[in-house]
Amino acid sequence: MIQAATDVITSRRWVKGPESRVFGGEFAHYCGAEAAVPCASGSASLIAALRLLDIGPGDEVIVPSLTFFASVSCIEIVGATPVFVDVEEEYWCLDPHSVADAVTERTKAILGVHLFGQPFSMKLPDGIPIIEDAAQAHGAILNGSMVGSLGDIACFSFFPSKNMAVGGEGGMITTTRLDLAERLQSWVDHGRSNDSRIEALTSNLRMSEIQAAIGRVQLKHLDEWQIRRQEIAALHTQVIEQIPLLKAPKVRTGAIHGWHQYVLYCEHPAELVEHLSNRGIESRVHYSTPCHRQPIMSEHPQHKEGSLPVTERICSNLVSIPVHPLLTDEEISRIHDALHNFSIV
Ligand SMILES: Cc1ncc(COP(=O)(O)O)c(C=O)c1O
Repeated sequence: MIQAATDVITSRRWVKGPESRVFGGEFAHYCGAEAAVPCASGSASLIAALRLLDIGPGDEVIVPSLTFFASVSCIEIVGATPVFVDVEEEYWCLDPHSVADAVTERTKAILGVHLFGQPFSMKLPDGIPIIEDAAQAHGAILNGSMVGSLGDIACFSFFPSKNMAVGGEGGMITTTRLDLAERLQSWVDHGRSNDSRIEALTSNLRMSEIQAAIGRVQLKHLDEWQIRRQEIAALHTQVIEQIPLLKAPKVRTGAIHGWHQYVLYCEHPAELVEHLSNRGIESRVHYSTPCHRQPIMSEHPQHKEGSLPVTERICSNLVSIPVHPLLTDEEISRIHDALHNFSIV
């Protein structure tokens, strides 16, 4: 990564150069998508995706509420309305039945989230474009297809905590559609066409060359890291299945989970987080305030308590424990010992 970054600095080609172009191509190939373009962040890629689908004021976008708020703010930022749907009891991703009930004539897209790395179900109503929020799911697979090639457009984040990173902020937008592939580059670059005419109202959403060069190095390691994440997750599940106070996450049939987070279910989340913290192990509740309950959504018709029963019931009970691929066997054993010793008095 250091060599790749240094090469970019000495090349003096810091933006709009070969690294971004090649990184986009390599990432598209990895996902099995038609095309991909690096972006400034995952959030920027979500905004670009909505703009590409010509979504704006008066349009509705269906989205789960149990997600990081960026899945929702992008919809508001382009002037459209988020329509929240509940999640599946088992997998915590958007519930296809809830989606079917939420469709209206104003629905312009379904923005699904591969939450914690679990691919969301693609059993969704026909004829509505699907945006994958794949910020947490690099390398995850559903029925033989990589996340990033399941819907019309997919958006990835390279925030440092993600399954792969770029040494700074970054994101990627991929598409499976030829008509959108032609416009991807322009949509992250001021809406400019090859002859510098402005064809879309967008902005500078580009990635810098140093980030692209580092991303290319990281992408080469993604598969080996994903295999290690799967190994660690399987070990966690084996242990957690023996502990009555904890419930291990389920993986959807036909899916290979991306394990961005290993999230278990616990009726005593505060006690578990404190118990682990006392033993030097980091853990967190995701997302204790679902998006529709955030203060900024107070005017939204679904803001009131009770709008999304499953989401509201489980949101405080989802606790992540470390699953990073560089964890040592000794550290994994320490996590398992701590889980075994967890009790409620
Ligand atoms: C589900 C989800 N969507 C979108 C984002 C936004 O990505 P970024 O932080 O790169 O803007 C994140 C990441 O933090 C995320 O977890």
